[in-house]
Amino acid sequence: MNDYKLLYQALESLGASAWVQLLSEQLPAAFDERTHGDLLKWKAAIDELPNVKPSRVNLRDAVSIGESVDLSEQQLQQLVRGLQKLHPWRKGPYRLFGVDIDTEWRSDWKWDRLKPHIAPLQNRMVLDIGCGNGYHCWRMLGAGARLVIGIDPTLLSVMQFQALRKLYGADLPMYVLPLGVEQLPAEMRLFDTVFSMGVLYHRRSPIDHLLELKGCLRPGGELVLETLVVEGGADTVLFPESRYAQMRNVWFLPSCDLLMAWMRRCGFKNIRLCDVAKTTVEEQRSTEWMRFNSLKDFLDPQNSALTCEGLPAPRRAIVVACID
Ligand SMILES: C[S@@+](CC[C@H](N)C(=O)[O-])C[C@H]1O[C@@H](n2cnc3c(N)ncnc32)[C@H](O)[C@@H]1O
Repeated sequence: MNDYKLLYQALESLGASAWVQLLSEQLPAAFDERTHGDLLKWKAAIDELPNVKPSRVNLRDAVSIGESVDLSEQQLQQLVRGLQKLHPWRKGPYRLFGVDIDTEWRSDWKWDRLKPHIAPLQNRMVLDIGCGNGYHCWRMLGAGARLVIGIDPTLLSVMQFQALRKLYGADLPMYVLPLGVEQLPAEMRLFDTVFSMGVLYHRRSPIDHLLELKGCLRPGGELVLETLVVEGGADTVLFPESRYAQMRNVWFLPSCDLLMAWMRRCGFKNIRLCDVAKTTVEEQRSTEWMRFNSLKDFLDPQNSALTCEGLPAPRRAIVVACID
């Protein structure tokens, strides 16, 4: 667990020693090879990646590490082989030594939508809850954040992040930890900005999730919340009885007005609806790097305004708020 020594030092210096204690138990358990059949395979895939110092890195307008001229033909093959073994790549895109990882999601489009509306991340401590493989964490670092911690319980996503970190080739104040939000200590009051994007509808109790998010923020901190919403007024919420766009774990899709009312009840201030966008089959689709079904297969083939279950098709809102 030496990988986390610098993280632990940073957290200690912020007075978060109780969290360090908890992480030092949670992280070894999450990486236990006996409970994750594929972990050894993923570690081997990362070991296979070439050890080359990237000549150039761009995290400001994209996530691009290295140039094709940095690699020999053999190293290029090693790179592609290793990354392919970490299929499916859902969040991105990444450009790695000239190889374009065309992921299922154009996560950069979400970043472009939210960027103009959030407090500048320069020198901020940032938590990204449900960060996937950490695509937005790289963008947060590129925007000048002092420390970025992403958490996601999907171990393959965490291993994809480890692969990118190996390619980056140096220490970074950025971590993606294999944890669910429910494993964070309550009332940390530590972060300047907390992102929760694509998570609220996966939580059985959305109000408790909002309160969890609030507890992670320092006084005056900012929440960036992105979630699925439906059209309608302050009394409208969709509760799918079974699947939504084929997903089994979707609970509540409120209208924007109801979402903001929930946030007010939870004590958030200065709540701003910044963006509402229908998810398109250009933004979420199958690619060479994500060969399974994607949004197009989850919509009604006769009517793209509906999911295959006959529910309103995905529409996502970005809401920014702060706490006193
Ligand atoms: C729709 S994806 C969103 C990823 C990324 N935040 C984005 O906006 O592109 C939802 C993510 O939430 C993660 N997730 C699911 N349950 C979670 C939990 N209890 N705590 C934290 N993350 C969770 C999933 O593993 C998945 O990576």
